[in-house]
Amino acid sequence: MTTDNQNNKESYEIDTLTNQRLIKDHEYDGIKELDNELPPWWKWLFIITIAFAAVYLIRLWVFRADDLMQSKEYQSEMADVLAKKEATNANAAPFEVTLLTDEASLADGKETWTKICSVCHLLDGGGLVGPNMTDNYWIHGNTVNDLFNTVTNGVIEKGMISYKDQLSEKQRLDVVSYILVDLHGTTPANPKAPQGELYE
Ligand code: HEC
Repeated sequence: MTTDNQNNKESYEIDTLTNQRLIKDHEYDGIKELDNELPPWWKWLFIITIAFAAVYLIRLWVFRADDLMQSKEYQSEMADVLAKKEATNANAAPFEVTLLTDEASLADGKETWTKICSVCHLLDGGGLVGPNMTDNYWIHGNTVNDLFNTVTNGVIEKGMISYKDQLSEKQRLDVVSYILVDLHGTTPANPKAPQGELYE
């Protein structure tokens, strides 16, 4: 104890005016450094943060706890998203390609035809760059499915674009139905010579 006291006495001195502890020999330009005890709440907070860090690092590095691993968090979130996606896919009925004859669908099909397809196939379907849609000759088949597939996948090397990304499934079915219901069998002003095979 005596040595302790002596040590302490040597390391600080008490300011006679304020009763504060000052570090001995720490005086610069008349400014002296305080040597006060840190308040207990501060010390405890400090100890708690160290304890927290120790627990945290052991859980992270030794036990690889699920809630601390970013890779595991990522995996579980991705699994959630995939599960949700599968659930919605299972709920959505598969798109059915069957000829539509209702007015709204045909009107929508006509709009697409006028805006996009008529450039190559002409408004009346007589054909220009693309083949005539009014006759019974078809290069890629004459069923709704055949036409739908041609519009969906295109015939790139022949100049027929794929409309998979540009038009929704419904829009593609609408325009294909418009071709078969409204354009096919009409008499265009300047029909292009038959291409493909004759379908009766
Ligand atoms: C850039 C010109 C162009 C545009 C635009 C175009 N087509 Fe075509 N289309 C063609 C050509 C060229 C062919 C012939 C492909 C071949 O020879 O195999 C064709 C073929 C087709 C066929 C197959 C015909 C057959 O005889 O089997 C269908 C159906 C068709 N187009 C529908 C459409 C629809 C619907 C649109 C609008 C969404 C469209 N096309 C827009 C150029 C075009």
